[in-house]
Amino acid sequence: MPQQPDPGRVSQQPWTVERLVSGGDGFLRAPDGRAAFVPGAFPGDSILPRSVTAKKRHVRVKAFDLLSPSSDRVPRACSVQGCGGCPWMELSRPAQLKAKAEILHDCLRRLGRFVNLPSPVVHAVGPDLGYRTRVRLHRAGGQLGFHATGSRRIVSVDRCAVACEPLNEALADVDRSGPPAEVELRASTDGVQVLVDKRRVSGPAAQRIPLPGAWLEVPAGAFSQVNPHVNRALVEAVLAGARARGVHRIADLHCGAGNFALALAAAGFEVRGSDLAEAGVLAARRAAQAQGLDASFEVGSAAQAAKPSAELVLLDPPRTGDKDAATALAADPPAHIAYVSCDPATLARDLRILVDGGMVLDDVQGWDMFPHTPHVEALAWLRRAP
Ligand SMILES: C[S@@+](CC[C@H](N)C(=O)[O-])C[C@H]1O[C@@H](n2cnc3c(N)ncnc32)[C@H](O)[C@@H]1O
Repeated sequence: MPQQPDPGRVSQQPWTVERLVSGGDGFLRAPDGRAAFVPGAFPGDSILPRSVTAKKRHVRVKAFDLLSPSSDRVPRACSVQGCGGCPWMELSRPAQLKAKAEILHDCLRRLGRFVNLPSPVVHAVGPDLGYRTRVRLHRAGGQLGFHATGSRRIVSVDRCAVACEPLNEALADVDRSGPPAEVELRASTDGVQVLVDKRRVSGPAAQRIPLPGAWLEVPAGAFSQVNPHVNRALVEAVLAGARARGVHRIADLHCGAGNFALALAAAGFEVRGSDLAEAGVLAARRAAQAQGLDASFEVGSAAQAAKPSAELVLLDPPRTGDKDAATALAADPPAHIAYVSCDPATLARDLRILVDGGMVLDDVQGWDMFPHTPHVEALAWLRRAP
């Protein structure tokens, strides 16, 4: 069916949004049975579509009139209009958490075929504003800000409601008239690091982050978690899970700069970390040496490093998941796996590979790492089937 604007067929009567789906759009079943996706609408909103893109099986609402708002709508905690960063800013926090639990559950059921899994809890830890210790902005034509929803137009910001105060103070000092560039700000225990096109121009050489029992230093350009409150809770959940399972040897196959590995080593576990990115591995090695921790770090892919010598394997891949590592582990399952994920769809896919390879999925819990956005962080625990 060609992609044709088709407002006449769908805009005659009000629609009520049923739920939120992966990616953050409102969803409902249109009167003609087609699935309708409504960006910017929330469950309980009654809307009149004004402009749609219609296909054979689904409709995308590009603009709508809000006839009566959901009771879960709240006033914005931010005055910036049109920035694509926090699409759920006008939805209450309890409704955000409920939607995230549904999205996680839905992906596990539909994509992972885990039909009997109970709906996971999504934990809210720390503040829902001022939580970010890292922001990435765009500079061009005298503007500094975030990309508008669905476009590369820059929405200028003087202040970001979800960034921590030191980042907002540093934002005021960034030169807006410089050449077009990506500008990243990273808060650290000893100041704010400013990176322009991934190169440090001011601030500390590395972003130092306190962990339970240890610290890590993330070099310029390497991955760092954005929400230290939730990160700490996740690290503690992995520590508690490792202790409860009585393991000693742990392989952290997407170790980055050692976020989980260093805390695990500080708690007395024997840790082997690996990651594709050399800068993170070198930083993790330096931090382990400086703190006298029993941990070794190597550069390498998770699939290659997935040998079954560890009793617990920790996975924490990027949004794309790690199908190759899951396949390698499924062929020779370790006693336990902890899988940290920032994408429920790829998590569901990889968990299915692991379970088909002979592992049992014991537990999945969510964490609200990115309040006011549809992103869901999750931690899943698996064990080798007896
Ligand atoms: C979400 S980050 C997590 C890093 C670290 N666990 C942390 O909490 O800071 C994902 C990491 O996976 C690494 N990575 C991506 N693909 C990989 C692969 N195929 N094998 C190993 N590491 C990979 C990236 O370099 C990055 O450090």
